[in-house]
Amino acid sequence: MADENNPNGGNGNGKVGLVERVTTGVKEDIHALKTEIPAKVKEQIEGLKDPTKTQVYTSIFRHKHDDTPRNRALGVLSNVFLHLHPAKINRDAVRYSYTWGMGGITFYLFIILTYTGVLLMFYYHPSKVQAFRDVLYLEHDVPFGKILRNMHRWAAHLMVIGVWLHMFRVFLTGSYKKPREFNWNIGVLLLVFTLLLSFTGYLLPDDQLGFWAVTVGTNMARATPLLGHEGPFGSMLGMTPYNDVRFGLLGGSIVDANALLRSYIWHCIGIPIVASVLMIVHFWRVRKDGGISGPAPVMLEAEADKPRRGPKAAGE
Ligand code: HEM
Repeated sequence: MADENNPNGGNGNGKVGLVERVTTGVKEDIHALKTEIPAKVKEQIEGLKDPTKTQVYTSIFRHKHDDTPRNRALGVLSNVFLHLHPAKINRDAVRYSYTWGMGGITFYLFIILTYTGVLLMFYYHPSKVQAFRDVLYLEHDVPFGKILRNMHRWAAHLMVIGVWLHMFRVFLTGSYKKPREFNWNIGVLLLVFTLLLSFTGYLLPDDQLGFWAVTVGTNMARATPLLGHEGPFGSMLGMTPYNDVRFGLLGGSIVDANALLRSYIWHCIGIPIVASVLMIVHFWRVRKDGGISGPAPVMLEAEADKPRRGPKAAGE
């Protein structure tokens, strides 16, 4: 007869004792280790072969990149960088033959200018004693200094060309019309600030070219209506060479140390900040105005036999 108090054996009534239960559990664990672990290892090796299946990847990209409209939209909307773009666009509106890519290229040049400009600031002092010497130092002694300076210069020239071409294309495609009138005006401000960036940068090397360009440029300000001492109504309002708008621009009555410092501050801080804010508004408005204007969407042959959706379909 089995001892009922013996925890190690069966009790004779078909009930399983502790030892047997532990033994069975251990056997099951060993079986699981033999079958499940190799399966998991295999799965992980497979995952390494296909990075899109790894846990790291799926934790960042939460949606499959299947070619279904829903997944494609989710893929864009759930990514911090991609969500800056619309989930859906008119494919004909983003063709280079339509936009010339000029707005994007202009923005790209602005990024290059900001980057190279910050690097140039490490070597440049806006003072009459040092400015021109710093430029010579950059040209001849600083490693990669010449290419850095020329990247900044050429990107500036190209940005001015780019912004004009962009405006020309917007004009040719009639994209200044309703509902984009406001964005056209933001664009006009961007054009002015782009030109002002070039103009203020011109004086900074403190060479003859910049000196005379700024002398001539600011001399025009003498003739500003009301605010220039040679402009209409200027003298009636008490304008003199020592208190008019030109004096304010130069920080004096001649192009000298104060003018250099003012150019530097406007060029490196004031205008870039205002231009960046305007660009943010400009891009935001492109989306709010219904995306890039574009020609009427073209229907592909493959889509022609599918029933059309939307309000127009009912009235057709
Ligand atoms: C720093 C200067 C500028 C930058 C970075 C810029 C950037 C852009 C970008 C990326 C677009 C999207 C479409 C495209 O690339 O063509 C765009 C659209 C537009 N831009 Fe500019 N832009 C600038 C200056 C201007 C100027 C000077 C004007 C006109 C005076 C202008 C008016 C417009 C308008 C109306 C649109 C909407 C066009 C459409 O829907 O087809 N932008 N801009």
